[in-house]
Amino acid sequence: MLCGTRGLLRASVAPTAALAAALLSTLARCSLPERGDLRTTALSPYFGTKTRYEDVNPGLLLDPETPRRDPELLAGSCTPVQLVALIRHGTRYPTAKQINKLRQLYGLLQARGPKDKRPGSAESRGLGAALADWPLWYADWMDGQLVEKGRQDMRQLALRLASLFPALFTHENYGRLRLITSSKHRCMDSGVAFLQGLWQHYYPGLSPPDVADMECGPPRVNDKLMRFFDHCEKFLTEVERNATALYHVEAFKTGPEMQNTLKKVADTLQVPVNDLNADLIQVAFFTCSFDLAIRGVKSPWCDVFDVDDAKVLEYLNDLKQYWKRSYGYTINSRSSCTLFQDIFQHLDKAVEQKQRSQPVSSPVILQFGHAETLLPLLSLMGYFKDKEPLTAYNYKKQGHRKFRSGHIVPYASNLIFVLYHCENAKTPKEEFQVQMLLNEKVLPLVHSQETVSLYEDLKNHYKDILQSCQTNEECKLPKVNSTYDEL
Ligand SMILES: *[C@@H]1O[C@H](CO)[C@@H](O)[C@H](O)[C@H]1NC(C)=O
Ligand SMILES: *[C@@H]1O[C@H](CO)[C@@H](O)[C@H](O)[C@H]1NC(C)=O
Repeated sequence: MLCGTRGLLRASVAPTAALAAALLSTLARCSLPERGDLRTTALSPYFGTKTRYEDVNPGLLLDPETPRRDPELLAGSCTPVQLVALIRHGTRYPTAKQINKLRQLYGLLQARGPKDKRPGSAESRGLGAALADWPLWYADWMDGQLVEKGRQDMRQLALRLASLFPALFTHENYGRLRLITSSKHRCMDSGVAFLQGLWQHYYPGLSPPDVADMECGPPRVNDKLMRFFDHCEKFLTEVERNATALYHVEAFKTGPEMQNTLKKVADTLQVPVNDLNADLIQVAFFTCSFDLAIRGVKSPWCDVFDVDDAKVLEYLNDLKQYWKRSYGYTINSRSSCTLFQDIFQHLDKAVEQKQRSQPVSSPVILQFGHAETLLPLLSLMGYFKDKEPLTAYNYKKQGHRKFRSGHIVPYASNLIFVLYHCENAKTPKEEFQVQMLLNEKVLPLVHSQETVSLYEDLKNHYKDILQSCQTNEECKLPKVNSTYDEL
């Protein structure tokens, strides 16, 4: 809702050249930097999992409800017959833990007091004072809940997907939508907001009924699918509850890059560097992102960091995602096998139904989860894998890494499988094809770099995961010799 551009767009059905010009000039005015605004923009590519969806799809700032159709998307003789979407919840509040750390940081600033009279540091003193005066908007009850902007993320995504795949999001299919969600409020609320967006698509101008009264009903909770990591004993023991599993994250927090950033920040805030640590300044950095994503305001916290600091803090976030949710340990991705297989069971069923000339029973399946749901699955499929692991010691070398969580899993990120039925196929095998989209852009297949795959070829490429990955087996802890049980 940037300076009322939505209102401007809505004012006319077919934007005229004059309107477009007006729009552009409005935007130009909006983006005119009031002092320091450019910095916010400069930091936003480094917010990692706290990145706004608009930062990976900047066109949405201009028009959030119209899809930018990827030219690689199949058309013509191939018709989409099923869509399975995995969607991360929209923008959310900080967690209680983050809010707590932020409070700690505020305490430090208050304690600093007004006594500093060093010459030549008026600007820094100004920033320190601005930060101490900047209200702490966040309260414990907010604890990671979906914010209004997050509901808007979902409604707008729904509108775009419905216009992108009109053959699937037909009015008739509205009652056959299948929604699955993680039990977390932010995910359930995301599912509901998505449905409200669709309602707006089908019944423009009518306010949506309670979700319980909608034809498809409320999203169904399934944590075994959407929070598989909570149900995998091996992951919990070897990674989640293992103090040494995130060794590289901890080592980077005390490494030379972080020390350098800590010194700069301590100097800017005029607090003793020993009072600061990586966790505290990371939360300060996130506060810049939260204020921007949630409230659309530029917080003075953004002025504490320059782009070099932002890159260091981004790396810290990526290291954690890498070791806890991705290639760091095999179990991170293997624990998502069930979800992967579930997706292909839906696709298989749709293929069978088409082959028997029956209607596809679930043309649209929408699953609402977390960054922690999407990252393991993308890793299982081999995406964003760098030649070398991300470690505490190769920050410089990883400057051009593929694994940048802000590009992969911003708020409202989505991975979509589209199954197509193609007419005029020369062989039965060519009848069914698949495309994948990540954040509404076609994701080339890992094995071929093509933008489309025959369904059979895709299944063949992933046959190990489809046939030999059993979550029960994968998640079992290695057998301990019973002799050692007492130890
Ligand atoms: C914890 O992680 C370390 C590093 O990967 C590993 O060597 C160790 O076996 C793990 N501990 C447990 C209890 O799994
Ligand atoms: C496991 O236990 C058996 C007997 O209880 C013992 O002979 C064997 O050496 C143990 N294996 C290991 C790896 O400790």
